[in-house]
Amino acid sequence: MIPFIKEKFVAHKCTLVADIGCGLGYLGNALTSLYNIDVKGFELRASNCQSARNYTSNSSSFATEQLIVDKSIECTKAIQTALTYHDKTKAASVSSKPNPEQLNLSSSPLRTRSSDQRICMVGLHCCGDLTPATLFQFHHLDECKVLICLGCCYHRLCSENKTSFENFPLSMKLKTEYDFTQPNDRKLNGLALRLACQETKSRWLCKTEQEVNNHSKHVAFRAVLEYYCWKTGSSLTKKHKKLTGSAAFKTFETYIDAVLSRVDDFSPLDSIITVRQDLLLCYEECKPYFSCVMWYNALQVMMQGVLESLILRDRKEYLLELGIYCQLISLFDDEISPRNIALLAWK
Ligand SMILES: C[S@@+](CC[C@H](N)C(=O)[O-])C[C@H]1O[C@@H](n2cnc3c(N)ncnc32)[C@H](O)[C@@H]1O
Repeated sequence: MIPFIKEKFVAHKCTLVADIGCGLGYLGNALTSLYNIDVKGFELRASNCQSARNYTSNSSSFATEQLIVDKSIECTKAIQTALTYHDKTKAASVSSKPNPEQLNLSSSPLRTRSSDQRICMVGLHCCGDLTPATLFQFHHLDECKVLICLGCCYHRLCSENKTSFENFPLSMKLKTEYDFTQPNDRKLNGLALRLACQETKSRWLCKTEQEVNNHSKHVAFRAVLEYYCWKTGSSLTKKHKKLTGSAAFKTFETYIDAVLSRVDDFSPLDSIITVRQDLLLCYEECKPYFSCVMWYNALQVMMQGVLESLILRDRKEYLLELGIYCQLISLFDDEISPRNIALLAWK
């Protein structure tokens, strides 16, 4: 990906890279250290900006700006200000807020100053709504000449009811073809978007039989837990981000012991022993169906590529409708990361 960015940077005579959702700054640091390219990173989390700074050598021309990138004109102005005032000599620094004077757009001739810069906008794994926001900003910032953007976590797209999304579909083409009158259970919902960002077919082909069997076991155990919750009307609230580690999946007993130590709120009548027994009963009830998991998985793998293509094509159409040249391009092997298809756009 890095040589590809460099090639486009040179071809479009760019002077600066804007790295949207730069995270810990790996991409920006690689570009500055390998090719001496100036990079301005934009990142939501202050802690990531700080870590990116710690990781950056003092001589590097990489700087980060703490900013929520969204589809607002205020954000466009904030990016424009940061790019205009990107100062190589002050790189390797973090600024959380632009100087108020810099944001006073009426008194600062931004358009004139920013036209000095030709920006190559990049985004590696811009999750959820960050990719649509990046496309919006690319369209609105005249100085952005080329965009290389890979999305991820499509299921995190903002939605009020899990069936309609603020940023999907984006293009008029799909908006017109998508039948909004159809019932909710026929629409692409959050689960479909989650499926779109699962493992790809070729990554499955690289897995060993043992890995595939383990995956089926994990799915089956989680399904028993879901069945228990559905049957008893309980919701086992996680106390930790991750419910269990993979070691817990040795047997169903080890799995539920790990789960029960990491969930909250049993109703007072339910002792942990009763819940455990009920879960074991559910397990026995579901066991005859475990062999189906692999078939469902195969269906999911077949759907993944179709769903992801739809999302990517929609984003490409959106840019084309705005009069921006655009291609979808596979940037690296999906064994490195399953989200390997970039939107390459230029104007
Ligand atoms: C999946 S990570 C990728 C990080 C980095 N590009 C990389 O590949 O190592 C997405 C990053 O985008 C940041 N992010 C998410 N939404 C954002 C937003 N609206 N504005 C700015 N940054 C955002 C997250 O904090 C996170 O660091």
